[in-house]
Amino acid sequence: MTVEAELGSMDAIRVPVELGDRSYDVWVGAGVRHRLPEVIPGDVKRVAVVTQAAVVDAGITVDPGVEHRVFITDNGEHIKSMGAVEELCREFAQWGLTRRDAVVAVGGGAVTDLAGFTAAVYHRGIRVVFVSTTLLGQIDASVGGKTGVNLPEGKNLIGAFWQPSAVLCDTDALETLPPEEMRSGLGEMAKYHFIADADLDALSLPERIARCVEIKAEVVAADERESGRRAVLNYGHTLAHALEAHGGYDLRHGEAVAVGLVYAAELAHCTGRIEAERVDEHRRVVGGYDLPTSLPAGADLDALVGLFSRDKKAVDGVTFMLDGPEGIQPVAGLAPALLRETLEAIR
Ligand code: GLY
Repeated sequence: MTVEAELGSMDAIRVPVELGDRSYDVWVGAGVRHRLPEVIPGDVKRVAVVTQAAVVDAGITVDPGVEHRVFITDNGEHIKSMGAVEELCREFAQWGLTRRDAVVAVGGGAVTDLAGFTAAVYHRGIRVVFVSTTLLGQIDASVGGKTGVNLPEGKNLIGAFWQPSAVLCDTDALETLPPEEMRSGLGEMAKYHFIADADLDALSLPERIARCVEIKAEVVAADERESGRRAVLNYGHTLAHALEAHGGYDLRHGEAVAVGLVYAAELAHCTGRIEAERVDEHRRVVGGYDLPTSLPAGADLDALVGLFSRDKKAVDGVTFMLDGPEGIQPVAGLAPALLRETLEAIR
């Protein structure tokens, strides 16, 4: 991670994502979205800016410095649909966007996932730059090239690995976020404390974001297509996905991940992989972000255990990413009775 002033005269932190000829930089800092013209590839003639009504309403706009049109989607996760992809592609085609042009996505994960996937398939792939405006987007969705949309049958079931040309994480945009949206990002941030045993506590928010991006960039560089190591980014997510799939709990994604981190630590302790002190460390970090460390009231333990085996990352029965002497690793074959008893322990 390097503090640089290369992006115009602005102090920003540059985090490189090393992927050979698909490498790019992530820039983190206050107001970095205003440096967009400097990261648009030089030969791009026109830009389709894809953003969301709430982002525009919050005053977060961009000027790519070349001819552009702005395409504004509805608010919410439901924009991640094949219908929205088709609509955008048709609008791009009617405008005459070509393979020499680019898409710029301005918003949170729903916008970057939708616009990134649309860029991946339009004309068999055109360049895309992400201007990420939420904490969750900055430390997760905008980095690493996973793009996609949902089906009624499940989330992110259609997608592509399509790396952006650059990512701008503008920390000014975070000031416009509703508190619950910020909490959602903090749950993912808590995860990074354990993935790289990172000491994030003493860092400022931009430094912390940059460190999380750096950790993710290292993981993605080692395993772009998720054939192994990248699954570590799913730490805490098996319980989180089960809570979200069950529904009816008043939890944002990051809050569900927060409980999932504590649960994963308890499971790791029950299976002899970590000491009680390490479980306490999970509780301290999660609690330090003012996030929940126990299950929501009325949690249906049997239903949650049933849902674990349907997690789409479960390649070998019920698999959890668990901390241990060698770091976080997949652990398969955990007995349903143990999973249930450990849920009881975090009730
Ligand atoms: N969000 C997890 C990943 O990018 O692999």
